[in-house]
Formats: sequence, structure tokens, C-alpha cells
Amino acid sequence: MKVTKICCIGAGYVGGPTMSVIAQKCPDIKVTVVDINQTRIDAWNDPDLSNLPVYEPGLDKVVAEARGRNLFFSTDVIKAIEESEMIFISVNTPTKTYGEGKGMAADLKWVELCARQIATASKEDKIVVEKSTLPVRTAQAVKDILVNTGNGLKFQILSNPEFLAEGTAIEDLESPDRVLIGGDDTPEGKIAIQALVDIYARWVPKDRILTTNVWSSELSKLTANAFLAQRVSSINALSELCEVTGADVSEVAKAIGTDSRIGSKFLKASVGFGGSCFQKDILNMVYICRSYQLNEVADYWEQVIKMNDHQKARFAKKIIKSLYNTVSGKKITFLGWAFKKDTNDTRESAAIYVADHLLSEQAKICVYDPKVNQEKVYADLEYLNTRSSDENRRHVKVMNDPYEACKDSHAIAILTEWDEFKTYDWEKIYQNMLKPATLFDGRNILSKEEMTKIGFRFYAIGKP
Ligand SMILES: NC(=O)c1ccc[n+]([C@@H]2O[C@H](COP(=O)([O-])OP(=O)(O)OC[C@H]3O[C@@H](n4cnc5c(N)ncnc54)[C@H](O)[C@@H]3O)[C@@H](O)[C@H]2O)c1
Repeated sequence: MKVTKICCIGAGYVGGPTMSVIAQKCPDIKVTVVDINQTRIDAWNDPDLSNLPVYEPGLDKVVAEARGRNLFFSTDVIKAIEESEMIFISVNTPTKTYGEGKGMAADLKWVELCARQIATASKEDKIVVEKSTLPVRTAQAVKDILVNTGNGLKFQILSNPEFLAEGTAIEDLESPDRVLIGGDDTPEGKIAIQALVDIYARWVPKDRILTTNVWSSELSKLTANAFLAQRVSSINALSELCEVTGADVSEVAKAIGTDSRIGSKFLKASVGFGGSCFQKDILNMVYICRSYQLNEVADYWEQVIKMNDHQKARFAKKIIKSLYNTVSGKKITFLGWAFKKDTNDTRESAAIYVADHLLSEQAKICVYDPKVNQEKVYADLEYLNTRSSDENRRHVKVMNDPYEACKDSHAIAILTEWDEFKTYDWEKIYQNMLKPATLFDGRNILSKEEMTKIGFRFYAIGKP
């Protein structure tokens, strides 16, 4: 089966970049990305590529090449479904904030809505691809809706979870470690799997395209995120032990990372992981385990989240303690607000929680981030519901210039590992701060030796 028209529901951090790369690599396939959010679609269609709603290195070039040729962004969901042979579902699946499973389970209302839209709009058989990260066995629910409301048409459901990492999305999409496709072991299922394999095979080596049953594919995505987050929490747990014993976490990480069984990646101690996925996917897995009464398994994975929360709180407490046990009325500058470098995504960013902690102690916070704007910072704080919007705006200022942001502050905290922070004139920053000037490096990107030589009191994660 040759696919000539694809549609993707959801033009977010996954749908946008993923479909842009598919369109770039397959100029003969028409790719339409649809979303109910008009502002987001307008931004994807903005002639000025610096206004794309997602910041990713290299994304602008890919969009420039394919947009208008075979890549289209639209709000006409029904038309796009109707004309496509293959439909990707790439909508948000956040943690539920209400009802049964609140704070743990994935909220699947947007996925269900997509399934209903596909069922209503389809006039021919379709292949439906789950691109969103979903609890194991969700494909069954999607299938039920399609079969029971879908005008007697035939639908094949594939699971094709996305493994891209924000900040390196284009690189990851262009040369993925693997592409995973789960589908039914029936003649129709195999045809559907092959149709999707044929698309990826245009640029991904065949041995990197793995096919499995649907349930293994769904569960593999949750498992991959759980393992990655677990590594971060493991090294962060050790960072606290390093601080009290005189060991250096970077040296320990290097020493253990050279063991080929352990490997060197993802062993960087920090103020904690963030992003829209790690926490929600582990919570979701914990919820699934509990629903099968696998309480020991659930407790084991839940500890990864608890350790991450502890690390963020520990960092905030360290700031307070170092500033003579009070930050009330003191200006503390945050360098970085995004959850990691090279993205404008702030979901679950450690910065939000550290700020919340310090604001409760009446600190004045000033934020500079190269890619995050003022309204996003306020929206993130408002989402916590800890204090009024008015209070947030009074106590938090967002600046466009890092030197202005740092001026007259008691302390600076590095919350995101943006490369540009390493190249600042730290001597000049030091001169313009109140003394003693303290620098809290939550990402271990600066040299302790150089910073203390300038005069800073310097605190890094996991260093004696
Ligand atoms: N962000 C990542 O790094 C990443 C990586 C791998 C997988 N994922 C998974 O991919 C999925 C999407 O994540 P994201 O970060 O792109 O989310 P996102 O919030 O950036 O984008 C989702 C988009 O879907 C749209 N949408 C929701 N319901 C819709 C509907 N019925 N019709 C049309 N549009 C609709 C929303 O308006 C939004 O723009 C999630 O399940 C996530 O867990 C994310």
C-alpha cells in the first residue's frame, strides 16, 4: 500500500517537528498538520520563521524547505482527516487533574476526541497511528470507538511512539536510534505496518526500524522515559552524598560511565529533570501498576519522582540557607527558565518549582531566558495556583538582557544549561552585584575555580 496523503492531529512539540521532517524526506507525500489552536497554526504559517511556535535548532530550515510544497498547517481537522490515508494522533496526554486517577493517570480526553473525529469524518478505510505517548492498551479503546462509530469502515491502529528529545529534535528525527512501530499480527495489520515502515525507510536504515505488537510498543515508550528519568534521579541522589563526603559527582559520573555496561550518557547531576514527559509518563506507569495491584513495582518507580522533587527543593533550600537563612526582599536572578537548553518549552521546568519555593520565602526574582518570554513565565507560575497573579507579577520580573537581570542581585541561580551562559563576562556581572555575591550553578556548567577567583561564593550540585 502506498500512502500519498498523511494528516497529523496536534501541531505541538512532537507533531510539528515530526511531520516537518517526514514532509522534507518524502516530497511526494502531502502532509497536513492540523490543530484546534488557531494561534498555534498561524504561528506555524508565519512567513517569519523566527515566530514558529516551537524553537528547535534546524527546524526553521526544514519548515522553509517543505512548507507550501507538501507541508501544510491548518485548523480544518475534518477535511484533513477525510483526504488522508494515514492519520497520526499527536495530541497532548497530560496527567489528569480531576476525578479518578487525578495526579497520576494520563488524561486521554483529547485522544478520545481525535478518535471520534476520525470516525465521523472518514469515508474510506484508514490507518490510525498513535504518536502521542499512551498508556499500554489504549489502542484497544481507540479501536472500540472507531469500530463502533465509524460507518462500518476498517481501521488499522498502529503505535509509533516518538523518541525525540526536545533541543535535539531535528537531529533525532533525521537519524533516530530506532523507530518503533507496533501493529496487529493479522494480514491487514501487517499491510498497515509495512505502509508506515516504507515511509521511514526513505531515510532510516531498515535495521533501525523495529516492529512489535501494539502493547509492547505502547509500553516501550513509557519504559524508555522511566529508565531515562531514573538515571537522572540516581545521579542526583548521589550528588547529595557527594556534597557531604567530599566526593565530586562529575568525577564519580565519569568513573562509572566508562563502564560499558553503565555507559556515559545521562549521568549529569542537576537541579532536577523537567519537561512534559518524564514525570507524567512515570506517574502514568505507577498508576497502571497500582491498577493491577503491583504495589512494589509502583513504589519503585514512584521514588524516581520523589527524588526529583527532593532535588529541586534541596536546591531552593540551599539558596535560602546560604543567604543567611532569609531571602525576604532579596533579589535573586534566575538564568534560564526553559526545562533544558535549546528549547522554549517550560513545562515542568525545575525553575518553576525553585521560584515557587523562594517566592514563598518572599524573595524578589528576576528571570532571563534566551527563548522564553515574560508571559510564559507568569503563566507557569499562575498554573501552580500558589499565589495571585498580581503577586506573581509584583515579585517576579522578566528581563531581556542578562546583565541587567543580574545587576544589584544578591545571588544568581543557573536553572538551564544554555551555552551562552558560559561565555558571559562574569567579572562584569560580579562587579554589578551586591556583596557577598553568590552563584548557584544548578547545571554544573561553570568552573568553580574561575568563579571563586573572580570573587563569587560558588555552589554547584554534587561538589564538595
Ligand atoms: N514533547 C516531547 O518531547 C515529547 C516527546 C515524545 C512524545 N511526546 C508525546 O507526544 C504527545 C504530544 O506532545 P507535545 O509535546 O507535542 O504536546 P503539545 O501540547 O505541544 O501539542 C499538542 C497539540 O494538540 C492539539 N490538540 C489537542 N486536541 C486536539 C484535537 N482534538 N484536534 C486538534 N488538535 C488538538 C493542542 O491544541 C496542541 O497544540 C504527548 O502524548 C507527549 O507525551 C512528547
